[in-house]
Amino acid sequence: MAGALGDLPRTTRLQPKGVAMYPTSPIEAILPEGQHVICRCGRSKLQPHCDGSHKGSGMMPVVIELSQEHQVSVCRCGKSRSFPYCDSTHKDLL
Ligand code: FES
Repeated sequence: MAGALGDLPRTTRLQPKGVAMYPTSPIEAILPEGQHVICRCGRSKLQPHCDGSHKGSGMMPVVIELSQEHQVSVCRCGKSRSFPYCDSTHKDLL
Protein backbone atom coordinates (compact mmCIF):
# COMPACT_ATOMS: atom_id res chain seq x y z
CA MET A 1 0.00 0.00 0.00
CA ALA A 2 2.91 2.39 0.58
CA GLY A 3 3.51 2.48 -3.16
CA ALA A 4 0.00 3.71 -3.87
CA LEU A 5 0.52 6.81 -1.77
CA GLY A 6 4.00 7.45 -3.11
CA ASP A 7 2.91 7.70 -6.73
CA LEU A 8 1.26 11.11 -6.50
CA PRO A 9 2.05 13.55 -9.29
CA ARG A 10 4.49 16.36 -8.49
CA THR A 11 2.32 19.03 -10.06
CA THR A 12 -1.28 19.98 -9.43
CA ARG A 13 -3.70 22.22 -11.22
CA LEU A 14 -5.27 24.92 -9.07
CA GLN A 15 -9.03 25.22 -9.28
CA PRO A 16 -11.11 28.28 -8.33
CA LYS A 17 -10.85 29.08 -4.60
CA GLY A 18 -7.37 27.55 -4.48
CA VAL A 19 -8.61 23.97 -4.55
CA ALA A 20 -5.91 21.70 -5.91
CA MET A 21 -7.17 18.81 -8.01
CA TYR A 22 -5.21 16.09 -9.71
CA PRO A 23 -6.20 15.82 -13.37
CA THR A 24 -4.90 12.29 -13.62
CA SER A 25 -5.88 8.74 -12.84
CA PRO A 26 -7.37 7.62 -9.50
CA ILE A 27 -5.50 6.37 -6.44
CA GLU A 28 -5.67 2.62 -6.02
CA ALA A 29 -5.58 1.69 -2.33
CA ILE A 30 -6.49 -1.15 -0.02
CA LEU A 31 -8.41 0.35 2.88
CA PRO A 32 -9.06 -1.62 6.07
CA GLU A 33 -12.46 -2.07 7.68
CA GLY A 34 -13.71 1.03 9.48
CA GLN A 35 -14.26 4.72 8.93
CA HIS A 36 -12.14 6.69 6.47
CA VAL A 37 -12.08 10.45 5.90
CA ILE A 38 -11.35 10.91 2.20
CA CYS A 39 -9.83 14.12 0.81
CA ARG A 40 -12.01 16.06 -1.58
CA CYS A 41 -9.91 19.23 -1.98
CA GLY A 42 -6.80 17.63 -3.47
CA ARG A 43 -4.45 19.37 -1.00
CA SER A 44 -3.85 16.48 1.42
CA LYS A 45 -0.36 15.04 1.59
CA LEU A 46 -1.87 11.79 2.95
CA GLN A 47 -3.95 10.95 -0.15
CA PRO A 48 -6.47 9.48 -0.34
CA HIS A 49 -7.08 10.51 3.28
CA CYS A 50 -7.78 14.03 4.54
CA ASP A 51 -4.98 15.69 6.52
CA GLY A 52 -6.88 18.89 7.37
CA SER A 53 -5.31 20.91 4.54
CA HIS A 54 -8.77 21.74 3.15
CA LYS A 55 -9.19 24.54 5.68
CA GLY A 56 -9.96 27.75 3.81
CA SER A 57 -10.71 25.96 0.53
CA GLY A 58 -14.48 25.80 0.99
CA MET A 59 -14.31 22.01 0.55
CA MET A 60 -14.93 19.29 3.11
CA PRO A 61 -13.77 15.67 3.12
CA VAL A 62 -16.09 12.72 2.54
CA VAL A 63 -16.49 10.12 5.29
CA ILE A 64 -16.93 6.51 4.23
CA GLU A 65 -17.50 3.42 6.37
CA LEU A 66 -16.21 0.07 5.17
CA SER A 67 -17.63 -3.10 6.71
CA GLN A 68 -14.56 -5.01 5.60
CA GLU A 69 -11.22 -4.40 3.89
CA HIS A 70 -11.70 -3.19 0.31
CA GLN A 71 -9.52 -2.37 -2.63
CA VAL A 72 -10.79 1.00 -3.79
CA SER A 73 -10.15 3.35 -6.67
CA VAL A 74 -10.37 6.89 -5.26
CA CYS A 75 -11.20 9.80 -7.60
CA ARG A 76 -8.53 12.52 -7.93
CA CYS A 77 -10.05 14.58 -10.72
CA GLY A 78 -12.98 15.63 -8.51
CA LYS A 79 -15.56 15.02 -11.25
CA SER A 80 -16.73 11.48 -10.44
CA ARG A 81 -20.49 11.12 -10.04
CA SER A 82 -19.70 8.40 -7.49
CA PHE A 83 -17.21 10.44 -5.43
CA PRO A 84 -15.08 9.43 -3.58
CA TYR A 85 -14.91 6.44 -5.94
CA CYS A 86 -13.60 6.77 -9.49
CA ASP A 87 -16.18 6.28 -12.25
CA SER A 88 -13.65 6.90 -15.08
CA THR A 89 -14.92 10.44 -15.75
CA HIS A 90 -11.25 11.58 -15.71
CA LYS A 91 -10.83 9.94 -19.12
CA ASP A 92 -13.30 12.46 -20.58
CA LEU A 93 -11.20 15.34 -19.23
CA LEU A 94 -8.07 14.51 -21.21
S1 FES B 1 -7.27 17.76 3.13
FE1 FES B 1 -8.51 17.63 1.38
S2 FES B 1 -10.54 17.47 2.15
FE2 FES B 1 -9.29 17.58 3.91
